[in-house]
Amino acid sequence: VRHLSDDIAYVLFPEQQIHARVQQLGRQLAHDYADRAPLVLGVLTGAFQVCGDLVRSMDPCPRGTTVNFVRASSYGSGTESSGKVAIKMDMDSKLIKGRHVVLVEDIVDTGMTLTRLKAHLTENCEAASVAIVALLDKRERRKVELEADYVGFQCPNEFVVGYGLDFDEEYRTLPYIGVLKPECYAHKL
Ligand code: PRP
Ligand code: MN
Ligand code: MG
Repeated sequence: VRHLSDDIAYVLFPEQQIHARVQQLGRQLAHDYADRAPLVLGVLTGAFQVCGDLVRSMDPCPRGTTVNFVRASSYGSGTESSGKVAIKMDMDSKLIKGRHVVLVEDIVDTGMTLTRLKAHLTENCEAASVAIVALLDKRERRKVELEADYVGFQCPNEFVVGYGLDFDEEYRTLPYIGVLKPECYAHKL
């Protein structure tokens, strides 16, 4: 039987390491937003894991903190960003006006997704502020200048999957982040 884990060349960030770091970030956020309740906005689909773990670690959690999601996708089934980012809000955009938004991402790669989202939230939705939490920062691949406010780990320029990160929608379920064996994506490119 073939398991997802058979496709992983090596583990880059083990489960324990991710949880320890996400917990630190959650506590930091709770502290930084103690007097301005944030709207935590997870970017689907990749951020579903980190978003859940992050808000659970916001302790003590500021009163008024809310959680919602926005869908953004650009990759399709390739390993390269298409550069076109589709945004779909999962909430009434009017409710964002005046809120302190904390965007939660699994990874910043070219920076296109977060640049588009940040502009949308600031200009169209009139958020009071927009901060970015990115579990992984793949700086080498940046095409537009974009700096995350909170970064979990710097990420090498490898094709990483797991803990929300996919290749062709698969591998998101893995509890760790690993590098995909090249033979597992070569035939699909
Ligand atoms: C991935 C990842 C980030 C984005 C980063 O999402 O989850 O959202 O790409 O890339 P960028 O910095 O080059 O824009 P993807 O578009 O694959 O959608 P998904 O989250 O549904 O997998
Ligand atoms: Mn994504
Ligand atoms: Mg993807």
